[in-house]
Amino acid sequence: MTPQSDQPEDITQRVEQLQREARQRAEIDTALNTLFAQEDDALQFALAAEHDAKMPAIQISPLQGRLLQVLAIACGARKILEIGALAGYSGIWLARALPPDGRLISLEVSEKHAAVARASLERAGLSDRAEVRLGSALEILPTLTREAPFDLVFIDADKPPYPAYLDWALKLTRPGGVIVADNCIRGGRPLREPVEDDPATRGLSEYDHRVATDPRLVSVAFPMDNNGMDGFAISVVRTVASEGNF
Ligand code: DHB
Ligand code: MG
Repeated sequence: MTPQSDQPEDITQRVEQLQREARQRAEIDTALNTLFAQEDDALQFALAAEHDAKMPAIQISPLQGRLLQVLAIACGARKILEIGALAGYSGIWLARALPPDGRLISLEVSEKHAAVARASLERAGLSDRAEVRLGSALEILPTLTREAPFDLVFIDADKPPYPAYLDWALKLTRPGGVIVADNCIRGGRPLREPVEDDPATRGLSEYDHRVATDPRLVSVAFPMDNNGMDGFAISVVRTVASEGNF
């Protein structure tokens, strides 16, 4: 980077450079989405159903959906647990990464959201392997020990209990399995010190710090959504005990 002065002509050049970079980023984003993560009718149906039901448009991006599939297939996932179904959009990406006899269990606290998610999964032809369970995740999770271990757990629900969801994910995921959580960057707020005193930021901050330092996990987070302002934290459950965090 060259040092910037604040002469008017320099400011104009700098603005033009920033505009070029923004256009280039948009072009890259479009090309990557086209190449790796095109939405078909079923995914678009889920988005339309979300919109029609006046639900918040806070689903993952197509590239994040594709990333979930890459992770699921990399760990040979046959059983996936999702905490927070929303309209079933991420559930479609996840369930499509399963073999025909695989299973997705998606937990959803809102009756309306659960109904939309079930309709989206049905429309995608995935009802044979994907199921939405209605209720509070913290009440359902203890009942899932019977169905564990899971190969992949995806957390994308209310933010204050993220640390409690992580406790359950660690209990329910097999060694070599993957734990993914959405919204772990949130504009940098959970990464800032001191941590803001709001329950969502606190929950995310504790989640990030725990997955970064827990010796049972190898984790990473990087910006991938919302113009680089948000992204997943991705953790692999170690099969071999750590001798320090590398
Ligand atoms: C919110 C929740 C999400 O899971 C997300 O991806 C974006 C926003 C929210 O509650 O505002
Ligand atoms: Mg989210």
